[in-house]
Amino acid sequence: MNTAPPSTLPAQTAATHLEIEPSILYFGTPVVLLSTENQDGSFNLAPISSAWALGKTVVIGLGREGQTAYNLGSRPDLVISLPAPDQWPAVERLAPLTGRNPVPSSKPKGCRFEPDKFAAAGMTSEPSHLVRPPRAAGCPIQLEARAERVRQDVSGEFVIVEAVVCKVHADSRIVVPGTDHIDPAAWSPLIYNFRHYFGLGPELGHSYRTQTPRNFEGPAAEPALAARPVRSRPRGDGQQVGRGVPAGEPPSAN
Ligand SMILES: Cc1cc2nc3c(=O)[nH]c(=O)nc-3n(C[C@H](O)[C@H](O)[C@H](O)COP(=O)(O)O)c2cc1C
Repeated sequence: MNTAPPSTLPAQTAATHLEIEPSILYFGTPVVLLSTENQDGSFNLAPISSAWALGKTVVIGLGREGQTAYNLGSRPDLVISLPAPDQWPAVERLAPLTGRNPVPSSKPKGCRFEPDKFAAAGMTSEPSHLVRPPRAAGCPIQLEARAERVRQDVSGEFVIVEAVVCKVHADSRIVVPGTDHIDPAAWSPLIYNFRHYFGLGPELGHSYRTQTPRNFEGPAAEPALAARPVRSRPRGDGQQVGRGVPAGEPPSAN
């Protein structure tokens, strides 16, 4: 059953595609902060948007000459911390920094070496349970993981990391109480959209496979993270949400 609402683009724009050559193809993926261990036992922190999950494996794309790629080639432990939208200024403070010294010539102009990126970002660290690098405190989701495969990509410019998650930490305010489910109405990733930062807009609908459909009978989560521009819980708003499952239909079994 197709539950997606029709495109919101006006019909007359549908046929006017231009052939363009954009310099980047960052079409809107969540920002993650990767903590990895440096050779001297200190820790690096780097913002990355080329990351996606496949089961318990997170696939990550990294510049070949960055400190993060260098670290994961020798020391596989990492933490994947997911910042909330209002943490974008801290992410952007990390943008011109590298943990690599000397700074590789492939880094953009203005990039400089920074040995303490947690402090430079204005963030603090908290210990992990199963891996050596610390978690980025304040990030609502933190995934402890190990890089099980690190290989060169087809262009030779990047490395592709396959990291297997071994522990998930989630801020209690984004977890449906009494369950292992993240409440998608309480959580918004920080989205990197053609080099601009966004949170999520209002919910449009949900997959037939969701375990937290709009009429989910579990207890309501706490209000969305305080002072964070996350989506309000839109129960009962028939205009924007709930199109995937009609009211009264039982929650999805999968
Ligand atoms: C929002 C954002 C997303 C980024 N995404 C990536 C990415 O997916 N892969 C990558 O290699 N670098 C990415 N970068 C650039 C790295 O953060 C940057 O090269 C940094 O210097 C890497 O640090 P490191 O050399 O200490 O590993 C991104 C930067 C920002 C601000």
